[in-house]
Amino acid sequence: MAIVPALVYFLLSSSAFSAKAIGIPAASTTTRPRKLVAKLIHRDSVLHPCHNPNETISDRAERAIRGSNSRLAYLQAKMKEATFSEDIQTVEDDIRASVIPDEGTIFLANFSIGEPPVVQLVGVDTGSSLLWIQCLPCTNCLHRPAPIFDPAKSKTFANLSCNSTLCNNLKRCQCDQFNHASFKIEYEDGSNTNGTIAREQLVFETSDEGIVILPNVTFGCGHNIQTRQSGGNWTGVMGLGTGIASLARQFGSKFSYCLGNISDPFYNYNHLILGEGAELEGYSTPFETFDGHYYVTLEGISIGEKKLEIDPDVFARTSDGGGVLIDSGSTDTTLAYEAFTSLAYEISSFMDGILTRSRDEDRRWELCYNGVVTRDLVGFPVVTFHFAGGAELVLDPESLFHQRTEDRFCMAVDPDSLGNDYVVTPTNIIGVMAQQNYNVAYDLDKKLIYFQRIDCELLID
Ligand SMILES: *[C@@H]1O[C@H](CO)[C@@H](O)[C@H](O)[C@H]1NC(C)=O
Ligand SMILES: *[C@@H]1O[C@H](CO)[C@@H](O)[C@H](O)[C@H]1NC(C)=O
Ligand SMILES: *[C@@H]1O[C@H](CO)[C@@H](O)[C@H](O)[C@H]1NC(C)=O
Ligand SMILES: *[C@@H]1O[C@H](CO)[C@@H](O)[C@H](O)[C@H]1NC(C)=O
Ligand SMILES: *[C@@H]1O[C@H](CO)[C@@H](O)[C@H](O)[C@H]1NC(C)=O
Ligand SMILES: *[C@@H]1O[C@H](CO)[C@@H](O)[C@H](O)[C@H]1NC(C)=O
Ligand SMILES: *[C@@H]1O[C@H](CO)[C@@H](O)[C@H](O)[C@H]1NC(C)=O
Ligand SMILES: *[C@@H]1O[C@H](CO)[C@@H](O)[C@H](O)[C@H]1NC(C)=O
Repeated sequence: MAIVPALVYFLLSSSAFSAKAIGIPAASTTTRPRKLVAKLIHRDSVLHPCHNPNETISDRAERAIRGSNSRLAYLQAKMKEATFSEDIQTVEDDIRASVIPDEGTIFLANFSIGEPPVVQLVGVDTGSSLLWIQCLPCTNCLHRPAPIFDPAKSKTFANLSCNSTLCNNLKRCQCDQFNHASFKIEYEDGSNTNGTIAREQLVFETSDEGIVILPNVTFGCGHNIQTRQSGGNWTGVMGLGTGIASLARQFGSKFSYCLGNISDPFYNYNHLILGEGAELEGYSTPFETFDGHYYVTLEGISIGEKKLEIDPDVFARTSDGGGVLIDSGSTDTTLAYEAFTSLAYEISSFMDGILTRSRDEDRRWELCYNGVVTRDLVGFPVVTFHFAGGAELVLDPESLFHQRTEDRFCMAVDPDSLGNDYVVTPTNIIGVMAQQNYNVAYDLDKKLIYFQRIDCELLID
């Protein structure tokens, strides 16, 4: 099952990430710091280009399950492969991007690139560390949404030479025939992308409805796209991992995102803030990075006041992999088999005599009930994930359960295995369902992640 992403060539040719923002004043004059904000568009949102108002709850649930399955396979392969390293600068430049954002619940963000600017809609991924977009001339580009960025028509485009100190310090460096830096990404499903690494100016919106131009942003210009997927109206991937080329590093060392009710197609306040304007609020927990992913220390899980008895070893990162990863591209949360069964047992004891269990022979591990999450779980105790340092994620029923059909719902937490499989190391992934109603902030220098329970609307002023 675990097909490891293969060859990846990536290089950069400048050590100077001087992403000095040139602010273009908005109509109103204000002295508040400008925030680089991008709206995050969930797959189920009315703003998503693939939004289909005729989709039923079960259509959406099936799509989310397909997306989660491929994401899990991808992350498990990566977690196993990721090696320990203290050196963020080198090892994590080893960019293996995420699964191409098609069916998954990955969020899309928009910004513009070049002069004249061309609007982009990219999948936001904390699991990879390169921004790449489709570029002309292009083999097999997805022709939606048009137009595709044409570097030859942009006044601000600059090629990167592959002859540089930084490049020489990176693990994988590739020169094309013009001595330009080039990249190639192979995805787990056999899709791949290759092209050149270049520099361009990006245009972001700000919190006060102005724009900010960021010159000299290093990005991948993808000229060859090979994918079996039909495309999902995205134009690229924005990596926010810890690698040196990550936008999270080019714009400073911080970013934050706030997620509200992802089941609500009209919820309009999900957003991403890049750079120093990120909202670092609430309790924090230290993170470690392996292979560009963010790993945290989960100390325990409780339901209501009751702390579950779970061997902490199932959450530990070992030299064989495993650990607890925070992910922006997984819908559900995945827990090590032992932690999953412990949680599922408590939940089923609670439900006993209240709701009827509903079983699906094809997905027998799932804990599902006949009922409606928003109607039948009033008074259900919250489930809390306790992280090192006092940070917590509190999951109310709408973060813990997923409505699958009009009258049936399941736990949005899955086991990493079925217990009898041979799994080398337990895998835990905190997905976006569990991050609903939270602002999640990353400080890459201090290596801290902050969780603050908040209505995202309050952060967009
Ligand atoms: C992408 O957008 C185009 C037009 O905006 C639309 O016709 C097409 O169906 C969309 N693609 C998908 C996969 O929904
Ligand atoms: C949704 O259904 C209506 C009525 O059946 C139909 O006219 C419309 O084309 C459908 N929209 C999409 C995007 O499939
Ligand atoms: C985001 O997309 C909208 C709609 O296409 C567009 O009007 C807006 O200018 C875009 N934002 C940026 C920063 O490009
Ligand atoms: C970038 O390099 C390509 C060849 O790889 C060349 O055709 C193009 O003109 C260059 N662009 C600029 C702005 O130098
Ligand atoms: C690469 O850099 C070295 C040292 O800076 C220089 O001597 C050489 O001419 C450069 N080669 C190219 C192709 O730019
Ligand atoms: C972009 O970086 C290059 C090389 O470091 C530099 O020469 C150029 O002035 C920079 N451009 C801007 C607009 O900052
Ligand atoms: C880039 O992709 C195209 C099409 O898949 C392929 O023909 C070409 O050899 C690839 N280039 C590199 C450098 O891998
Ligand atoms: C979330 O959205 C769903 C679908 O619109 C709605 O039924 C539910 O009440 C919302 N939850 C909250 C807490 O607003």
